Amino acid sequence: MKKDRTDNDLMEKIVSLCKRRGLIYPGSEIYGGLAGTYDWGHFGVALKNNIKQSWWKKFVDSRRDMYGIDAAILMRQEVWQASGHVAGFSDPTPDGKQFNVMFKTQVGAGDETTVSYLRPETAQGMFVNFKNTVDAFHPKLPFGMVQIGKAFRNEIAPRDFLFRQREFEQMEIEYFIRPADWEKYFEYWRSEMLDWMQELGLDMGRVHELEVLDADRAHYSKRTIDFEFDFPFGRKELFGLAYRTDFDLKIHKLEYVDKENSEKMIPHVIEPSMGIDRAVLSLLVSVYTEDEKNGELRSYLKFKPNIAPVICAISPLLKNKPELVEYANTKVYVPLKAEFGRVAWDDNGNIGKRYRRQDEIGTPFCIVVDFDTLTDNAVTVRDRDTGAQERVKVEDLKKYIKERI
Ligand code: GAP
Repeated sequence: MKKDRTDNDLMEKIVSLCKRRGLIYPGSEIYGGLAGTYDWGHFGVALKNNIKQSWWKKFVDSRRDMYGIDAAILMRQEVWQASGHVAGFSDPTPDGKQFNVMFKTQVGAGDETTVSYLRPETAQGMFVNFKNTVDAFHPKLPFGMVQIGKAFRNEIAPRDFLFRQREFEQMEIEYFIRPADWEKYFEYWRSEMLDWMQELGLDMGRVHELEVLDADRAHYSKRTIDFEFDFPFGRKELFGLAYRTDFDLKIHKLEYVDKENSEKMIPHVIEPSMGIDRAVLSLLVSVYTEDEKNGELRSYLKFKPNIAPVICAISPLLKNKPELVEYANTKVYVPLKAEFGRVAWDDNGNIGKRYRRQDEIGTPFCIVVDFDTLTDNAVTVRDRDTGAQERVKVEDLKKYIKERI
């Protein structure tokens, strides 16, 4: 994809907005930064949590065939020896040497010390708990194991903001099937992944599928599709879908007793794998919008309300008028905060400045308490995208917002 100045500008704008508005900061910044790490601020955490929740709701809570797990990040070296990562999870350095990108560490002290690794994918935490899951829940095939969690890779050249980091998060599914069904479920998961991307609010015109060639596939995969995204720095992998066969269960010597015919068998695996950080970055690229309001250029994030870090911001028109502040706090902010949680109080600067700030955070509704409110018990609700304002009765606010999220 052609890259031009506008694309570079867009990345710079997104990175600086994220810092300015409390979403994402460079890691260890006051000591000069640590490449490939980022720290998430208050609104960034909210955004990330909303994305995880939307994913978990679709792929776990609304189904009956999925089993969650939260495995330890530190795993025994035998796991990674068996999985092939110790031997082969390497990238070439600039001078052509192979460099294993797993973070090696030690566990324990003195004679008790053993080598261990921080997991480079969440997947193995599921495979090593396959037996626990089968014994505890007796699932019938097909069924899935699901994990959201951190993964670590000592990337040789971390770059492009959240795109290539050394510490990141994955949302992964290992879907266990009968071998003969693999093509059916591969297609099924391909369409489920696309559905979720659409639900999240990605610009689907930027999403493309790439059939990964034999030579480029991971050692465990018989077929892989990369979902690529047109980032400002080029078309790059967003998520992956792999047919891992029975590779992992076999190497860990795990099996399944098929209740239908009492036969022991090794299920095959379809793996939808999605990086949260790349989900956030592609979403930021998708929703970042600029327009002109009242002759002024403004930028805003057009998040869907269920994904936005803040659902609504409450403002007293003037912060030095105690009667406005009191009303805005007790009659609007406190009840809405109790109902929706992701509610902000914003009394800093004039109203125009507050709107600009909330636009940049992507807050769908700004609610202003003014002098009329004190007599008519109604507030002004401003829509982020259109700037349109309407008067809404304070007693109807919860309903008004619920109907729109
Ligand atoms: N279990 C399969 C697996 O880990 P992968 O393609 O190596 O496959 C899956 O990683 C996803 O994790 C990628 O599609 C991407 O979304 C995310 N990811 C991988 N490396 C990353 C990195 N260095 N920084 C941010 N996200 C990364």
